Amino acid sequence: MDYAATYAAWRADPEGWWAEAAEAITWARRWDRVFDPALGTFGQWFAGGRLNVCANALDRHVAAGNGERTALIWDSPMAGARARFSYAQMRDRTAHLAGALAARGVRAGDRVVIYMPMVPEAVIAMLACARLGAVHSVVFGGFAAAELAKRIEDAAPRAVISASCGLEPGRVVAYKPMLDAAIEMSAHKPEFCLILQRPQQAAALRPGRDEDFQEAAAAAAPHDPVPIAATDPLYVLYTSGTTGKPKGIVRDAGGYAVALQRSMGMIYGLGAGDVFWTASDVGWVVGHSYIVYAPLLAGCTTILYEGKPVGTPDAGAFWRVCAEHGVKVLFTAPTALRAIKQQDPEAALLAGHDLSRFEALYLAGERCDPPTAIWAGEKLRRPVVDHWWQTETGWPITAGFRGLGLFPSKPGTGGRPSPGYDLQALDDAGNVLPRGTSGHLALRLPLPPGCAPTLWNDADGFRRAYLADFPGWYRSGDAGEIDADGDVSVMGRTDDIINVAGHRLSTGAMEEILASHPDVAECAVVGVADALKGQAPLGLVVLKAGSTRAAQELERELVALVRERIGPVAAFRTAHVVPRLPKTRSGKILRASLRRLADGEDPRPPPTIDDPVALDEVAAVIRPRS
Ligand code: COA
Ligand code: AMP
Repeated sequence: MDYAATYAAWRADPEGWWAEAAEAITWARRWDRVFDPALGTFGQWFAGGRLNVCANALDRHVAAGNGERTALIWDSPMAGARARFSYAQMRDRTAHLAGALAARGVRAGDRVVIYMPMVPEAVIAMLACARLGAVHSVVFGGFAAAELAKRIEDAAPRAVISASCGLEPGRVVAYKPMLDAAIEMSAHKPEFCLILQRPQQAAALRPGRDEDFQEAAAAAAPHDPVPIAATDPLYVLYTSGTTGKPKGIVRDAGGYAVALQRSMGMIYGLGAGDVFWTASDVGWVVGHSYIVYAPLLAGCTTILYEGKPVGTPDAGAFWRVCAEHGVKVLFTAPTALRAIKQQDPEAALLAGHDLSRFEALYLAGERCDPPTAIWAGEKLRRPVVDHWWQTETGWPITAGFRGLGLFPSKPGTGGRPSPGYDLQALDDAGNVLPRGTSGHLALRLPLPPGCAPTLWNDADGFRRAYLADFPGWYRSGDAGEIDADGDVSVMGRTDDIINVAGHRLSTGAMEEILASHPDVAECAVVGVADALKGQAPLGLVVLKAGSTRAAQELERELVALVRERIGPVAAFRTAHVVPRLPKTRSGKILRASLRRLADGEDPRPPPTIDDPVALDEVAAVIRPRS
């Protein structure tokens, strides 16, 4: 069936369409209702069904006689190592770790925080939790102790699984001291921690709380998969909201498994035995869905890459990995391509790599600027597909569909809505806009399987953040338009979230940190255009009356403070002291005007600006220095 027919089939009978998709999953108990509108914030999928997602990702492939097929290839230029794990090996490793967790009291529904670099044990840890029905919450390694502490406090895990260190170019990142500090800061204390000792740097273990990951797993009896309700959470993944408090996005088990399994063939055109490489991190949703769960559910070989697009050792690293492991589809963030293009504009490093098995490049995480997409298409001579989604949705809202003959998508767009999503652009009052008109991109409820049903311990927060503005709709927080053909262009966020190197960050969180400095009276953080990272945060601060701090000293301290509190991933490198911040007469800081000003555009202040001179004063500070 082609795209149009498939989309029409879903529209005509959504529940029948999803019930058919659910046949590809192995259930311990079939669902009572495909969709129950009475449950949760907007209804829930596969109510009454029971399954184990780890068993679907590993055991069933082994049971079907495919245990020797490669499940995961670890390729780490950082560690100078490679390793290959068959489905049977992954199943066994995971079962032993699950046994170790169970022996220490972890049960279905308990939370386990995972704070790990890109090593196979991170994937094994996620799957071991899933095997027990425990809820994992992976925290990206680039976050500092205070961010980890917020997540430990909110998720209240029984255990934390971590590693002695991560490896970044030129430095070993000691994870364990950050974990210790985070547990110190958090009011909730985990009962135990399993620590993977990496050869690059060992960590001191705290007696009575910390144990060696490998020893614990080796000593444990393997544990069988524990079926959980389809509507039970598989994981909680924290993502940036508009304030310093991250949002705990809940993913329920059944709908996610069904949607991911369906997406692999329909969107990426991949099936059992194909090699899929998602060059992201297990700490992000892209890593959860397309490094770990979807490829394994579909019986593919997934690649776990601990390295960068450039500098490990050079801008040919991605092509080397694709050639060496026979990658069929690569999924990465546009920023990675911009980094490669910047260092190797002619793609000279492609030469010598056999990309005969490589078929397509998928991009997401931020809007792809057309020159980068065109460059990649020309150099690789393969279709390039930009596709759009969010932590909240768990799988693509719009895409090009290799499995449905709608491929590649129209250049400059993120493709068309995936079957399951009724996407429209709305005006401020919630009316559906005609095609070709830009507005709030919103999804008509119910959201499809795989999308977040709620926020962790905060159903009201979910309703307020996503459902309240436009009754009957989910507000994505992105602006964009749908053209006459139905192709969707995503322009950017309508809130205070920015996207730095494909990493979603909250300017509100950074403002809270700047404002906590004793010399800062008020501040604003805006995302300004950055040639490599897409956006970069820029801080503007006003000194407290009477402060005698030298501007450059304060700026250095503020940069260090954000790095210490949020982590290096914030990439907060610029703060300027300004005399005043431009505001409306009602006292709202004109962040959009500040952003345009920093981008070198006409700041277009609204007529309600209180004091136009304030904007000129900011311009005088940032223009000569940016
Ligand atoms: N653990 C610890 N530190 C980390 C980290 C991790 N897992 N990931 C990133 N960092 C650090 C980096 O070392 C860097 O530190 P520095 O300030 O000391 O240099 C900082 O966080 C900023 O990292 P990043 O924004 O990634 O910039 P970079 O200069 O290291 O690399 C790119 C730039 C474009 C090569 C890189 O951002 C990249 O590969 N991006 C792809 C993003 C991606 O896959 N996103 C997932 C969404 S699909
Ligand atoms: P995250 O939740 O970290 O995946 O970030 C989601 C946000 O990233 C979206 O709301 C968009 O703002 C942005 N984003 C992701 N993919 C795309 C894309 N293909 N085009 C434009 N923006 C994107």
